[in-house]
Amino acid sequence: MTKSVKSFIIKNDMNMAQKISLLVIMFFIKINLIFLPLVMAKVTGVCSNCHTMHNSQDGQPIVKFGGWDPSNGQQTGSISDEPQEYLLISNCIGCHTNAVDDKTIITIGPSGGESYIPIVYNASVEPNYPEEPTASGSSNALAGGNFYWIEHDGDEYGHNVISRADSLLTEAPGRNQGCTDSCHYSLYQWRFPWPNSEGQGCPSCHTPAHHKGGSSTAVADEEDGWYRFLGKKHSQGPDRPILKGLEDPDWQQTVSPADHNEYWDTWDYGPGNAGISKFCAACHGNFHSTRYGPWAGNGGFKGGPGGGWHTAPWFRHPAGIFLPDFGESSKYNTDGSGDEGVPGSYNPVAPVSRQDVDSYSAPSEVVTVGSSGDMVSCISCHRAHASPYPDMLRWNYDTCQASTANSDCGCFICHTRKDE
Ligand code: HEC
Ligand code: HEC
Ligand code: HEC
Ligand code: HEC
Ligand code: HEC
Ligand code: HEC
Repeated sequence: MTKSVKSFIIKNDMNMAQKISLLVIMFFIKINLIFLPLVMAKVTGVCSNCHTMHNSQDGQPIVKFGGWDPSNGQQTGSISDEPQEYLLISNCIGCHTNAVDDKTIITIGPSGGESYIPIVYNASVEPNYPEEPTASGSSNALAGGNFYWIEHDGDEYGHNVISRADSLLTEAPGRNQGCTDSCHYSLYQWRFPWPNSEGQGCPSCHTPAHHKGGSSTAVADEEDGWYRFLGKKHSQGPDRPILKGLEDPDWQQTVSPADHNEYWDTWDYGPGNAGISKFCAACHGNFHSTRYGPWAGNGGFKGGPGGGWHTAPWFRHPAGIFLPDFGESSKYNTDGSGDEGVPGSYNPVAPVSRQDVDSYSAPSEVVTVGSSGDMVSCISCHRAHASPYPDMLRWNYDTCQASTANSDCGCFICHTRKDE
């Protein structure tokens, strides 16, 4: 074979190889684009990213609680010789904390064996708070907000879970049940039923099932460990419904009217109710519309002509009730000038929850009103963890002024005529 022919073949071969590798690369990029989100919804990666068999390496313990340093994918903090349950390398807070920067999803582990960790606490650098219905960016706070604000701004900005008990609140406001010393009093320091539960704030709401994550249905239910692992704790007994929903694959780091979580809620009160509002009401019982109040009569609703649903005036802001098909809130997310009963699209700033979430195969921007329609829930106005605003509200309530248009005030997304 002459040199020139050989080089021609090699050249040609290389072209072929290049072509093939290009195709392979493109194939994987495509696969990744399609599947990365699904992968991110359940744990992936080599076991040693998260587990240590003996809490020992080179004769030294390895458990640490300081949160991740994203630049090297290592936990920070001082070494603890206390092995963790499930042989984990850290605890809930340590593993869900970014100790160094403002990134809210971080990647750890060796190439090909990565794990993606949703961050709920940026310990040193403030994450970005999404104020608009459409937002994206690697430092966007995830759906529950971020514990940064309670740790840095004060107790009223969120649930006191991480470093101290609330200096003012000695029980969950609205509490109407709960054993003494339980998480109905403090999420930081509670002793029921375990003798010493300091630092156990996360499991008072979550029942983790990290290796679950079925994909046979879009709705996160039992095979997925329930919506965001929020099942079990607040179910009202065996065989009763538990919180379910559609889990946004990047936990709403990118969010828009068509790209978001879907929350289940219901106004079927009694044991059938385990929707997102009842979830919060497990500790804040009296705030779940009037019907759970000790004053409740007539099923909790004001009597009189047409008694029952939507018989104003209300005594506490309703949650777990549908948007009526009349009046200003039937024009959800519009400027309020249109016809009653014709809402605009889903707005993640003041999201609605769904009664019929089981029928969803993907998140939707369509909102419906009326008795089988979408609902106002606790999550319409609050973040679950913490936010930059007092009472962990989703927007700056202090700027909401009657008769003053203000696109930053979430109340006007439903009360569409109160800004005129
Ligand atoms: C990205 C982190 C992560 C990776 C990687 C990981 N795990 Fe886990 N694993 C967890 C967490 C967190 C728990 C805590 C309990 C829970 O949520 O169920 C857990 C729990 C477990 C449990 C007990 C609960 C159960 O579901 O059975 C076993 C067993 C387990 N892991 C085995 C493994 C093995 C084997 C690997 C590697 C093939 C692995 N894990 C990789 C995070 C991880
Ligand atoms: C070793 C690291 C590690 C520890 C420890 C850990 N997690 Fe996680 N957690 C992860 C990773 C990785 C994910 C993302 C994959 C997933 O969604 O399961 C995750 C996801 C989650 C989610 C979101 C689930 C969803 O549907 O997207 C919740 C809630 C959660 N963890 C709570 C906890 C709680 C509560 C604890 C303590 C009991 C805990 N985690 C301990 C690594 C950890
Ligand atoms: C008061 C109850 C409560 C406590 C306490 C709590 N969470 Fe959550 N968490 C929630 C709810 C509700 C959601 C779903 C938020 C949503 O989808 O809007 C959530 C979501 C999450 C997610 C998914 C990311 C996101 O922001 O949606 C992770 C991860 C998580 N929690 C981890 C933790 C960890 C770790 C702790 C302890 C440091 C903790 N949670 C404490 C209620 C709680
Ligand atoms: C497991 C019990 C529990 C659950 C579930 C729970 N909370 Fe709380 N919540 C508390 C306790 C205890 C406090 C008072 C101490 C604190 O702030 O941590 C509190 C305080 C609050 C505050 C006042 C914060 C402040 O410091 O001023 C708000 C607002 C709030 N919760 C909203 C919610 C919402 C919304 C949900 C549902 C996503 C929810 N809670 C679910 C126990 C709970
Ligand atoms: C997701 C939609 C939604 C958001 C956001 C919302 N509301 Fe409401 N609000 C409703 C619905 C629905 C009712 C019940 C209306 C009815 O009975 O017809 C209501 C009722 C009320 C009432 C009682 C009215 C009466 O007739 O008794 C007041 C006051 C109120 N809201 C104020 C606010 C304020 C202030 C904010 C912002 C912090 C806010 N709402 C945010 C949906 C919402
Ligand atoms: C319409 C918006 C809206 C809805 C829906 C809503 N909240 Fe609130 N919540 C607020 C506002 C605004 C505050 C600030 C104080 C006030 O105006 O009452 C607040 C305050 C709180 C507080 C602090 C009270 C205190 O004493 O410091 C708790 C706890 C709370 N909400 C829990 C809930 C729970 C649980 C639900 C669902 C059952 C819920 N909220 C539904 C808007 C709302």
